[in-house]
Amino acid sequence: MSQASTKTTHRPRIAVFDSGVGGLTVLRAIAGQVPDADYLYFGDTARLPYGTKSRETVARYAIEAALFLQDLGIDMLVIGCNTATALALYDIKGAVDVPVIGVIDPGADRAAEISRSREAVVFATEATISSHAYQRALARRGFATHEKACPLLVPLVEEGWIEHPVTEQVARIYMIEALRVASMNTDVLVLGCTHYPLIRPLLRRVVPQKIAIVDSAESTAQVVAKELGVAPGAQPNALPSYRFFVTDSTEKFRRMAPLFLGFPVDGVEHVDLGG
Ligand code: DGL
Repeated sequence: MSQASTKTTHRPRIAVFDSGVGGLTVLRAIAGQVPDADYLYFGDTARLPYGTKSRETVARYAIEAALFLQDLGIDMLVIGCNTATALALYDIKGAVDVPVIGVIDPGADRAAEISRSREAVVFATEATISSHAYQRALARRGFATHEKACPLLVPLVEEGWIEHPVTEQVARIYMIEALRVASMNTDVLVLGCTHYPLIRPLLRRVVPQKIAIVDSAESTAQVVAKELGVAPGAQPNALPSYRFFVTDSTEKFRRMAPLFLGFPVDGVEHVDLGG
């Protein structure tokens, strides 16, 4: 994104884009840090998952959504989706005129703040891992990284199996497999997918204690707050407002949203972006 600050004289209009409902974890984190803002959330629910798709397809979908959001008049676009950030951040930045923030650099920055060994493991979707976007971002900060695709975790979370023995067992197997290959000195696990913050307590049980867990959603929220000049803990003048746009069933989104956002939503609008 541009280096210039995005401080606005009016209440900021912040768009958060994701392939579906998962990005609501990012929206929730941002609204927690920047409550005095109007939020527009776009979930491309008709075309998810992005985590199994090619770069070209994800870039095309994400740019369509970004242009739609830009036309609504926004001050900032946050790409909440790790896969879209990994595969298409630069395409999206090139397509719109507003500042764009992805989730990968904030996550990598946070990992760099807390790691001593500079050895990391990243959990993410298949497409994010294949892109090696996290590995590159962490390498720029001096890390050696082992990347682990965890494709079963998204459907398990969407099933609502947040505290479930099956999810715990799957997460444990992924962790064991990762640690079989990763350096013994690994001291940070980066959660590189919108859905994983929801199972953070469960992950905390299966991840060795000496490994800290970094949540990209939280780190991204801090970057957004900083970019807008919002001081941590500042008292808001007003509560956030929300508009939600989805490309598939508004009813299904309304049903699933509270799990990710922490409160019920209404006024979900359907958008048809074609192809
Ligand atoms: N939002 C995606 C991500 O963060 C996960 C869901 C999907 O594959 O579309 O990578």
